[in-house]
Amino acid sequence: MNILVLNGSPRPHGNTAAMVSAFAEGAGERGHKITVVPVCKKKIAGCLACEYCHTKGNGKCIQQDDMQEIYPVLEEAEMIVLASPIYYHSFTGQLQCAINRIYALDKPKNLKKAALILSSGSNHMYGGAIYEYEHSFLSYLKLEDMGIYTAYGKENKTEEKLKELYQLGKSLE
Ligand SMILES: Cc1cc2nc3c(=O)[nH]c(=O)nc-3n(C[C@H](O)[C@H](O)[C@H](O)COP(=O)(O)O)c2cc1C
Repeated sequence: MNILVLNGSPRPHGNTAAMVSAFAEGAGERGHKITVVPVCKKKIAGCLACEYCHTKGNGKCIQQDDMQEIYPVLEEAEMIVLASPIYYHSFTGQLQCAINRIYALDKPKNLKKAALILSSGSNHMYGGAIYEYEHSFLSYLKLEDMGIYTAYGKENKTEEKLKELYQLGKSLE
């Protein structure tokens, strides 16, 4: 299965990156093809709501930035993983811009599954991100939930947490 991971953390060796690596290791061993996009290293602007994509553009976004590299991967992906540190109870701004730009494709045509990976400083901070995941990805895009994985403060980068992520990757059909 082709899996696209959007990592919304600006810290290349941070807590989210550690969970993403463990997930990718397990999924790779299972034979899946994983593409991890560190969205903070990309130039991805927010949606302009110009509706070019839904009119003359025929599914193409008018903005010529790094999101153009992600669209073809998104169209091939059967699973999307949203990975992010919690900023003000939700995703990072950089990840939110990338998510909003999915609008151009309506529903990416091969996408069937999703998972959510979140890291935070404190516990019980996930409500905003989980709301968006459940409503926009599971309900609206009709994706199957493969799980929500969180780590806060002292849990971040622990062997136990990383093992959970590895097992998720390894267990995917
Ligand atoms: C701008 C900003 C906002 C944050 N907001 C929250 C928050 O609302 N709740 C929380 O528990 N942690 C918050 N944090 C802490 C991060 O979520 C936490 O340090 C996380 O583990 C960082 O993940 P990373 O190493 O993958 O970047 C915030 C950090 C920053 C820089």
